[in-house]
Amino acid sequence: MIIRAILEDITALAVDAIVNAANCSLLGGGGVDGAIHRAAGPELLKACRPLGGCKTGEARITPGFRLSAKYVIHTPGPVWHGGNHREPELLRNCYRNSLELANGRQCRTVAFPGISTGVYSYPLRAASEIAVKTVSEWDGRFPEETIFCCFSREALEIYQEILKYHQTRSLS
Ligand code: APR
Repeated sequence: MIIRAILEDITALAVDAIVNAANCSLLGGGGVDGAIHRAAGPELLKACRPLGGCKTGEARITPGFRLSAKYVIHTPGPVWHGGNHREPELLRNCYRNSLELANGRQCRTVAFPGISTGVYSYPLRAASEIAVKTVSEWDGRFPEETIFCCFSREALEIYQEILKYHQTRSLS
């Protein structure tokens, strides 16, 4: 699988699926959740309502409606409470369950935001390491390309550094 990091607004990406850092209600919010709902239009909220919410670490898939992306995969990340409340495991589950859904719909390209690294205050480097490790370990047929869509230069540099380390290590 090709894995890369870019600095971009995830709602602008013409990929098969973008992942939404949602909350457990799945009824929208601020941050990337708000941006995705605004760009997708009101049909997205209509499609989310009947889902009846989603547990932290689980994921649900809907159409992308007005987005360029065909699908939106909604996954509530863990709120950071210091690291001893299963945060790493729950964050890993967000990535793994999103990849499962993408694989099920044969999505060739999937873009992730930095789940939990905004309002949910997960430390950026620790969250990025979990993201890269979980995606690197994924062995499903799809996606063929995973993009970490960063929204700050700081996040981009952290992802690029981690990806470089992972890619050199896997070559050795
Ligand atoms: N494109 C890509 N990344 C974005 C965008 C965007 N348009 N907007 C924000 N981000 C980045 C943030 O910079 C952060 O790195 O997404 C990451 C996740 O931040 P949040 O959106 O705050 O999500 P999270 O920390 O998981 O908190 C989720 O916030 O918006 C509410 O409803 C949401 O309650 C939920 C909570």
